[in-house]
Amino acid sequence: MSGSFYITTAIDYANGAPHLGHAYEKVLADVIARHARMSRRKVHFLTGLDEHGQKVQQTAQKRGISPQELVDEVAVGFRAMLRDLSISNDDYIRTTEPRHRKVVQDFLSRLHAEGLIFKDRKGGWYSVRQEQFLSDKDRDENGEWPEIFGEVTQTTEENYYFRISKFQSWLVEHIRSHPDFITPRFRQNQVLEFLKEPMNDLCISRPKSRLTWGIELPFDTDYVTYVWFDALTNYYSAVVGTGLWPADLHVIGKDILSPPHAVYWPCMLKALGLEPPRSLLVHGWWTIDRKKASKSEGNAKDSLSVVGIYGADAFRYYLCREMVVGQDADFVLEPPTHSENGKALSDKERKRYKTFARVYQTDLGNSLGNLVNRLLNMVGRSCGGVVPAAGADEDPERSVRLLWGDTRKAYDVAFAEHQVSRALESLWTFINALNAYIETRAPWKLAKSADPADRARLDSCLAHVSEGLRLVGTALLPVMPTTARTLLENIGQSVPADFDRFDWSAAGSGVRVAEKCILFPQVEAPPAPAA
Ligand code: MSP
Repeated sequence: MSGSFYITTAIDYANGAPHLGHAYEKVLADVIARHARMSRRKVHFLTGLDEHGQKVQQTAQKRGISPQELVDEVAVGFRAMLRDLSISNDDYIRTTEPRHRKVVQDFLSRLHAEGLIFKDRKGGWYSVRQEQFLSDKDRDENGEWPEIFGEVTQTTEENYYFRISKFQSWLVEHIRSHPDFITPRFRQNQVLEFLKEPMNDLCISRPKSRLTWGIELPFDTDYVTYVWFDALTNYYSAVVGTGLWPADLHVIGKDILSPPHAVYWPCMLKALGLEPPRSLLVHGWWTIDRKKASKSEGNAKDSLSVVGIYGADAFRYYLCREMVVGQDADFVLEPPTHSENGKALSDKERKRYKTFARVYQTDLGNSLGNLVNRLLNMVGRSCGGVVPAAGADEDPERSVRLLWGDTRKAYDVAFAEHQVSRALESLWTFINALNAYIETRAPWKLAKSADPADRARLDSCLAHVSEGLRLVGTALLPVMPTTARTLLENIGQSVPADFDRFDWSAAGSGVRVAEKCILFPQVEAPPAPAA
């Protein structure tokens, strides 16, 4: 693979502090970006902040500060989150920046000049929380407005509309003929279902009498731009003139797939004569106590505190390992006291629960951390700190090498589909096999034997574990960049910039290793969160 790779995340709403959901998406995109860099693609990784709209205006008002002051403050928090999580974005766009405003206004002027924006007076139901007009289609089966719309009021207003309906049949055809446009693929149906009904034209303005915090319409200064039209444009405004468009991958959550990313955005671009993004990667939700982690739920406030306790890499590992991209996952700090059907859990059952601490201890500390230390110990004790060349080549060695071949294939396939949890799963199968291989070989016994055949077996064992760990360290660079680097350095390896040496080789031998290394220090149990 080569060539450029332009990857983005959703830009976060600037009306609160960052939480687990925001963090996960940036980590997922970062892992994909780092993997693409190592695959020698010229990566451009964009993330940013969505700063306009009613919610920001309201929050600022409540706090008695200007919206600009609010978003400046919020931006500091979001950028700190990126730094704390080792996110390697190449650019950060804020929708209040002049470079962005200019492109939004240019888009609007062009659509207006083409006759694709018209003015109309319409009355209808309006959701303040979602900042959008609703139709009867949006009601639930009981005829009520679903919770997500918050307060719904009747409003009659003159507004500007984008003739999005003109592009409906093009979009349906585009989705059908580009199976990678919406991934994972099971998400396509939801969009095609939405597109079965004739689409309403999209209201792209808000009168200043109601909302002033937005980008002014270039052809009518009494209005600002609808926040979604504004926000979606960030993907283009950040790279205008660079030749990077179309984006290769927009990483987004399932709540903002349809209609914003799967319908509005491609239609806007089509109307402007621009190409749609190549692919949307739609992840599910992190839940806490089985409810979506969110500001409004109030359950996600402390969700990022584990980063300070366990470190960014452990957090990145947990998120990538525990969420199958596309599905929801529950973030568990404390085991629940009751099962899903309300049955009280015994202490024994609670201990078995896959909490963050448990994943840290088992996958990271026991399986990987101890494996590295076993190697360093044995090489130190039996070989003066230098990994020997392989000697004997018997069944156990052959199976380890064979398994690496399969692991690497599974890793590559998983990454090609952005299924990071699967890549990690196969990597841990390999790590566990290396541990089992050591048990089989029992190098501590071989070291005591006077038989030269045993010495050859011992050498092979150390050489194979060392080479296995070199490959594991390489594979982990996108997910745990700091830990993988430390691992490689401690086993006497340089840190590769690419996957050029990702096949089994003799590179694990002849290197001097460190005496010991603690990749995953013991963590004192964090204090239970206040009830
Ligand atoms: N500002 C819009 C996106 C505009 S993109 C042109 C927005 N912001 S958001 O702050 O609400 O969400 C930002 C991203 O975080 C979205 O992709 C959303 O799906 C994701 N998450 C927010 N909470 C989440 C979870 N609990 N779990 C996983 N991701 C979720 O939407």
